[in-house]
Amino acid sequence: MKIRDLAVVVVSLALAWACTPAEEASTADGSAQAVAAGGEASSPLMERAQAMFEPLPAEPPELEGNPITPVKVELGKKLYFDPRLSQSWLISCNTCHNLGLGGVDLMETSIGHGWQAGPRNAPTVLNSVYNLAQFWDGRAADLMEQAQGPVQASVEMSSSPERTVATLKSIPEYVAMFGEAFPDYEDPVSFENMARAIEAFEATLVTPGSPFDQYLLGDDAALGEEQQIGLALFMDSGCTACHGGILLGGTSYQRFGAVRNPGVELLPPEDRGRFNVTGNPNDEFAFKVPVLRNIELTAPYFHKGKVWSLEQAVGVMGEAQLGREFTPVERAEIRAFLASLTGTQPVVEYPVLPVHTPDTPKPDPWLGLGTDLR
Ligand code: HEC
Ligand code: HEC
Repeated sequence: MKIRDLAVVVVSLALAWACTPAEEASTADGSAQAVAAGGEASSPLMERAQAMFEPLPAEPPELEGNPITPVKVELGKKLYFDPRLSQSWLISCNTCHNLGLGGVDLMETSIGHGWQAGPRNAPTVLNSVYNLAQFWDGRAADLMEQAQGPVQASVEMSSSPERTVATLKSIPEYVAMFGEAFPDYEDPVSFENMARAIEAFEATLVTPGSPFDQYLLGDDAALGEEQQIGLALFMDSGCTACHGGILLGGTSYQRFGAVRNPGVELLPPEDRGRFNVTGNPNDEFAFKVPVLRNIELTAPYFHKGKVWSLEQAVGVMGEAQLGREFTPVERAEIRAFLASLTGTQPVVEYPVLPVHTPDTPKPDPWLGLGTDLR
């Protein structure tokens, strides 16, 4: 109990700090309006934004211990789209992280093997290479570790490392590609190298060039009047305490309901978030702060996926994280700003997948399911 109280104090202090800029709200709003009216004087707002955020680089970052090469990316792309990595041969990474849909599945919580519903909403894979760790609770350190999870998860692809390697080794074109992509490995076709190839492909899934990036790079006209007011409001009301940096998120774990509990529908008591990983009472109901890039494309929102409207999500955040009730106009302004975070989507040519052989383990869409489902 004591420790928990302390946690509340710490969060409140952090928020008090985060909220100080609110006192400058009128000047910032004023400058945003001046832009719209006069077409100059935008610099104070732009300057503040440049200090707070970073444009998304056009090129993917380097991966530790996993150099990105064209053949590895091509292999990773095939694996990403290959449903034969699942027990049923029906589910690929792209099923739940659809690259034509902003890298998500548009479900409240994902549906995997045998139509089983998982416990959480699928976050986007776009730009995920910049996250401090992967999953809502950060239980995977990086994309390479992450990619090994869904293949095995019984509610997702429901396969196993052994079965996956047997599948890959039974397909000659994959064996050849793994050999080229991992020339320094004695046994190139391994579960870990599958994950490395997928990681290399995912690292290329970045979305630079959004209107907000153009604005950060000095183009005043890239954001309209309402969007600039929304940007000022986003910074002044304290959203940036958690949603800053390159992705406007993805850099810390924060308690959902830092100020006010958002209610059992959005925050059911059985999912204690980061606490499940660390066992630290301070981490109870803390989740990785989601990235806001391409947020307009990735409804429904929050880890339970219960909110379909972005304006409503803004309202929830105001109350739960900042103790502030936004007016409908303010919610629309912030929403307009958030829409400027949609970048150029990666154009991915759907890969032709290598042909399997009689040795390839056969699909078993019914494994582990009751006969009534058949
Ligand atoms: C059945 C749907 C499903 C499939 C299939 C699936 N995922 Fe996911 N993915 C999810 C869900 C749900 C989460 C969030 C789970 C959590 O946080 O506990 C997630 C999380 C992730 C994340 C973390 C993103 C972040 O911001 O934390 C990445 C990256 C990812 N998946 C990549 C993949 C890859 C690569 C594959 C294929 C090997 C894959 N997923 C297959 C549903 C799926
Ligand atoms: C104290 C930290 C904190 C502050 C301040 C904060 N957020 Fe969040 N935000 C979070 C966390 C944590 C989540 C994930 C909650 C969950 O679903 O578990 C989140 C989720 C969101 C989402 C949903 C993202 C998704 O992919 O589902 C949006 C949109 C959002 N925040 C916008 C805002 C806006 C706008 C503000 C300012 C009004 C704001 N946030 C202030 C921490 C914060």
